[in-house]
Amino acid sequence: MTPTPFYADATVTLYCGDMREIVPGLGRVDLVLADPPYAETTLAWDRWPDGWPTIAAQATDSMWCFGSMRMFLERALEFSTWTMSQDVVWEKHNGSGFAADRFRRVHEHALHWYRGAWSAIRHEVPRVARPGPAKSVRNRTAVPHTGKISGGSYVDDGQRLQRSVIQAASAHGRAIHPTEKPTAIMAPLIEYGCPPGGVVLDPFAGSGSTAVAARLLGRRAVLVEADERYCEAIVARLAQGDLFAELTA
Ligand SMILES: C[S@@+](CC[C@H](N)C(=O)[O-])C[C@H]1O[C@@H](n2cnc3c(N)ncnc32)[C@H](O)[C@@H]1O
Repeated sequence: MTPTPFYADATVTLYCGDMREIVPGLGRVDLVLADPPYAETTLAWDRWPDGWPTIAAQATDSMWCFGSMRMFLERALEFSTWTMSQDVVWEKHNGSGFAADRFRRVHEHALHWYRGAWSAIRHEVPRVARPGPAKSVRNRTAVPHTGKISGGSYVDDGQRLQRSVIQAASAHGRAIHPTEKPTAIMAPLIEYGCPPGGVVLDPFAGSGSTAVAARLLGRRAVLVEADERYCEAIVARLAQGDLFAELTA
């Protein structure tokens, strides 16, 4: 049965409820961008929804998933229907760890998972301006992602593939969700896996950062969030005028 949206406009559709009940009723999307409960705190919502990676696979063949190394190791079996292609590190400007007996934690992982043929998966790495003088570089293509390296032409368009360690200030101090991700870390992940005009599904929407980034990038977003208070916060956030300011904050 098709679920009823909590909110919808031209680019964003938000469902309020358990993603395990809602996602099976949605259509296929280009990309899932998931920031699930890591189940590492005592926060009421921080409980791992059993089986959610398999449910996400009903909607897409390409998924970014945030998490800690511990989360991915402990939940490895839950991702057994997926193949991992790569990991990206979000380096924050401040720490989020509370334990004085460990290094101050200033990063999160985002792992990319896919199903089926790699060639059928969109994988457009954002390109960024290269600092320094002009220089020739080898333009290589890995086919598939873990396999042989092909290509060999030399180009210099003044740009480089975006680095796998991405620095982005956290939303600390202005966040409306305790684990809110900044738009600046969502944007390159969406660009990579979702084509312009395509649809990205965030099954654990929280404050709606995925929708903000998707809008800025000309993609559509489908969100699911279990907590009605956060659903209301998402609607209020989307009503704000200058979403671009969030990208550069
Ligand atoms: C890590 S937070 C996401 C934060 C979000 N990425 C942001 O930038 O604000 C996880 C969210 O998933 C929600 N959640 C937990 N279990 C859920 C479920 N079964 N279905 C849908 N949402 C769920 C929680 O209420 C919480 O807001």
